[in-house]
Amino acid sequence: MPKSIVVCKVDEMRPGQARCFSVLDRNISIIRIGDVFYAIGDTCSHQNYSLSEGTVIAEDLEIECPKHGSTFDLLTGEPRSLPATKPVPVYAVEVASGEVKVVIE
Ligand code: FES
Repeated sequence: MPKSIVVCKVDEMRPGQARCFSVLDRNISIIRIGDVFYAIGDTCSHQNYSLSEGTVIAEDLEIECPKHGSTFDLLTGEPRSLPATKPVPVYAVEVASGEVKVVIE
């Protein structure tokens, strides 16, 4: 049964920002681009670094790992550049009543 969990309020994040939230037993990076929110696993699949500390590339819907520069697709979690070769998980996001929720399957 999927769970919808509130992580923050919409106005607590500015466009272009990424923040890590601890949700159940995992760290999830929430990224805001315009008024759309994305959620991906926060831990880079290459080594143990936090993607939310990297750079959001809004025009390509990517986030760049701060350590070695792999970029990850915000919709699929797939890496688009080396050295990472494995995807990170992606999660559905719901926005309602000014709150951002992430859906955990
Ligand atoms: S730790 Fe992310 S690309 Fe190496």
